[in-house]
Amino acid sequence: MVKSVTRVIFLFSCLLSFFVNSSEVSKDSDAKVFITEVSNIYMASSYLIFKQQSLINQKGGDKSTLFGKAFINNIKNAYEAKFNTKFPKENRRLYTSLLKAMIDVMEDNRTLIYDDELSFKGLIPATFSFQLSEKLTQKGLGVKIKFTNFASSIRNKLNLPDQWEVAAMKSFKQNKEKSYFDDESTLNNIPAYRYFVPMKLERFCLNCHGTPQHNPLNVGLDKSQWSKIDVTGFEMENWELGDFGGGLSVTIYKKDFLELEELCELNYISTFACHFFALE
Ligand code: HEC
Repeated sequence: MVKSVTRVIFLFSCLLSFFVNSSEVSKDSDAKVFITEVSNIYMASSYLIFKQQSLINQKGGDKSTLFGKAFINNIKNAYEAKFNTKFPKENRRLYTSLLKAMIDVMEDNRTLIYDDELSFKGLIPATFSFQLSEKLTQKGLGVKIKFTNFASSIRNKLNLPDQWEVAAMKSFKQNKEKSYFDDESTLNNIPAYRYFVPMKLERFCLNCHGTPQHNPLNVGLDKSQWSKIDVTGFEMENWELGDFGGGLSVTIYKKDFLELEELCELNYISTFACHFFALE
């Protein structure tokens, strides 16, 4: 009895690997769509964090839209406004986990956000992305999201690029692509899908990364008193509008992308096999 069950399981594994291999091409293009959407969802959330800076930093008042479902609804609205398409259906465990992790990060910052002593809370996209990535790692989701730049332009050493990111950034200098997807890469020697979107400096980036004339702390001051230190305490880089401003790097381990439930959803494996595994 035990032997025959083992044999059935073995046969199923063979069947499974056959179906998975034969759908390699569609799997990779599907991964590209998915990783692009994850990156866009993240971009929408950072856009929101920027737009909400005055709410985040204000003393007192109702800040409930920064938490829970209301926060996610705002991300969805920001996504639809920015990318001019509907927010993706949340039919993947990774999507729902990503949104849940975003809520958790905001919740972790609740005391800070409601601190009435601090006029600048330091909750900006770069810190949000760092905390989000930590959260995703804690949850074992195998998704990494990181803002990075060339080593010579970096503010925080924790954001230093790895070799793959350096190569991606260099490739934008040569070809003027909008993003860079790689389905044959690794992270920590684990096979991974990787995606990079370069960012150009927009007007609001200049508040911190631009010249002292853009520093909101200098408003109304005589030029001789202008500070080169931005509101976050870093020395301003003197970058200009439209300059390369680093980019967003998203990595998903292949093993986490190919969850069994998703293989079933996508009909990569037979319905019968899905039921078999569901019974496990
Ligand atoms: C309120 C000030 C502020 C604004 C506005 C701002 N940044 Fe930053 N940025 C920072 C700080 C502070 C860090 C370092 C964060 C950390 O410690 O991880 C940072 C880090 C980064 C990083 C990661 C690499 C590094 O230097 O550590 C990138 C990329 C980046 N910013 C790009 C941008 C772009 C592009 C914009 C506009 C879309 C922008 N930033 C707007 C303050 C700002």
